[in-house]
Amino acid sequence: MINRILTPRELLVGGGAVNGLPSVLQKLGVSNPLFVVDPGVFRLGLADAIIESIRAEGASFGVFSDVVEDPTDVSVAQVVVLLAEGKHDGVIAIGGGSAIDTAKAAAIVHSTGENVRALKVPRIVDFDVMPLVAIPTTAGTGSEVTRACVITDSERHEKMLVLGTAALPTAAIVDFELTLSCPYRVTVDTGLDALTHALEALVNRNRNPHADALALSALKLIGANLETVCSDPQNRSAREAMMLGATHAGLAVSNTSTALVHGLSRPIGAFFHVPHGLSNAMLLPLVTEYSVLSAPEEYAAASRALGFATEADSSNNANEKLIVGFRRLNNQLKIPTLRAYGIDGNRYMELRPEMARQALQSGTPQNNPRVPELEEVIDLYDRAWAE
Ligand SMILES: [Fe+2]
Repeated sequence: MINRILTPRELLVGGGAVNGLPSVLQKLGVSNPLFVVDPGVFRLGLADAIIESIRAEGASFGVFSDVVEDPTDVSVAQVVVLLAEGKHDGVIAIGGGSAIDTAKAAAIVHSTGENVRALKVPRIVDFDVMPLVAIPTTAGTGSEVTRACVITDSERHEKMLVLGTAALPTAAIVDFELTLSCPYRVTVDTGLDALTHALEALVNRNRNPHADALALSALKLIGANLETVCSDPQNRSAREAMMLGATHAGLAVSNTSTALVHGLSRPIGAFFHVPHGLSNAMLLPLVTEYSVLSAPEEYAAASRALGFATEADSSNNANEKLIVGFRRLNNQLKIPTLRAYGIDGNRYMELRPEMARQALQSGTPQNNPRVPELEEVIDLYDRAWAE
C-alpha cells in the first residue's frame, strides 16, 4: 500500500514565526503579494505588523480585507479581479479558514480562468498555482496545511469542496501568538473543528499510519488544552499546544479526508449559516454514536488520546466514555442545539432531502466507517433536530 503524503513546502511553527514572512516570500520569489485578511483580524490590527514587515522590505503589495464568513464564489471573484489588476505574483492569507479558503480559491481561479463550480469535487485540482502563504489566526481549521478549500455557491446555496494540490498552501506560518486575542466563541468552534478533523482522520476509511500518528498527537494536545484556552485565553502554553494540535489535525485530515460529521455539517452551514466548527460540534456526539461500532478500536484510541478514557478501559468502556465526553464538552463549552441556535424548524424539515443529497454528493460520508444511505442521512438530520 502506497500512501501519498502532501504537506506545504515550508512550515514555520512557533511564537514569533510571523517574523519569518519576508524570507519565506523571498525564497518563493514573491515580490508583489496580495494580502487576503479577515476583516475582524484587520480591524484589531493583528495584521498590521505583518503587513509593515513587507512594506519595510520595499516590496509592493495589495490588501483585500473584505473576506466574508462562509466564503462565496462572488467574494472569490472580487479577489481574482484584484490579483489581475495589481499584477500580483502571490497571495498571503491572514485569518481563519474563511480568509485562507478565499485566498486558495482565488489563486486557483486566477491560474485557470475557470469558475469555482467547475473546480469542485469529483474533479481533483492537482496542478501548480501562484504561491500562497497561509498565516492562521485561529487554532483552527487546519486550512493552512490542507489540500482543500470550501466555497459556497451563492446561487445554489451549496458548499463546494475543492480538492487537490492546487489548494495546498506553498508555505504556512503557524504562530500561536496570533491566537492570544481570539474571542471565546471562535476559540471553541475552531478548537472543536480541529478535534473533529483528528477524529475523522483516525476513523477514516482512507486512514494510514502517517495520518494516524498526527491525529493521535492532535487529540492528545486538544484534549489536554481545549478547555484551558477557553477559560484562560491568555495561557500561552495552552494556546501553543492548541495551535500545534490544530496543525497536526489539519495534516492528518488532509492526508486522509473528512467523514460523516463534515458531510452532514456543510449543508447546515450553507443553508443556515451556522459557523463550521459549531455545526460540527452539534453533530459530533450523534454521529459518533451512529458510527462507533463500525470502528470500535479506532474510536477507543481517540477516547484514550483525548483523556476521556485510560489504557485500563476496555474498548467498549472507552467508546461509552467518548460519547459521554463529547456531550459533556458540548455542555461545558455552551454548544447550542440546532433549535436553540434559532434555526427555523419548518425550513429545516423541508430542506432535509436536499441537505442529504448535498451531503452524499460531497463524497465525504462515504469515508466514514459506517456509510449511510440517503434515507439514513435524512434520519440523522431528524435526530440532530431532536437533540
Ligand atoms: Fe472542518
